[in-house]
Amino acid sequence: MKITILTIFPEMFAGVFTESILKRAQGQGSVEINFVNFRDFSLNKHHRVDDYSFGGGPGLILAVEPIYLALKSIPAYDTAFKILMTPQGTPYSQKIANDFSKKDHIIIICGHYEGFDDRILNFVDMEVSIGDYVLTGGEIGAMVIVDSVTRLLPGVLSSDESFEQDSFYNGLLEFPQYTRPQEFMGMKVPDVLLSGNHAEIEKWRKEESLKRTKERRPDLLKKRSEND
Ligand code: ADE
Repeated sequence: MKITILTIFPEMFAGVFTESILKRAQGQGSVEINFVNFRDFSLNKHHRVDDYSFGGGPGLILAVEPIYLALKSIPAYDTAFKILMTPQGTPYSQKIANDFSKKDHIIIICGHYEGFDDRILNFVDMEVSIGDYVLTGGEIGAMVIVDSVTRLLPGVLSSDESFEQDSFYNGLLEFPQYTRPQEFMGMKVPDVLLSGNHAEIEKWRKEESLKRTKERRPDLLKKRSEND
């Protein structure tokens, strides 16, 4: 899979993309991540990409032209799935991550300042928000998308890291887990997990998943029953 990120701050991604699973996934060719700095496409002699908002108001708006030109410079950009990071977008979810992971090429556009000239919407397929709060820019959201999508790609996680048991993957929160020691400061690991009875363990985990979801995220249970 190819991921292209349009940003005026490509250095922000160093570290997140050069460690651990994202590093491995790129090393083995499961994902190829490229950056395009749309400041390079500004036709302004000072390389400005922002300007005042028509009608007034505080702050600067990202102009449509440099972003459009940057998009057009990407090979086969018209067939790629283009995502705009904005707080006004569709709330990001595991389901959307699963959908994105099946695409050949996604392009993620990161904004800054007070947002985008609205005409950019003519050149994208979807607006995505990573939550109901405002960030200084779209880069952290783009990192969230790249991370959550990459781990779903075939061959990225080993079988003992697999995502099939993740929270949200089956619409439920994950069951509690424990490792050694069996007893810590008087707190014991539930007996069933030490029993070796796989059917009983499976049953217990399912019940605990349901119990946790009911207590902490009843909205997920509701969504699950709507999808049935
Ligand atoms: N840019 C600023 N805030 C954002 C958010 N919550 N989601 C996506 N992009 C953003």
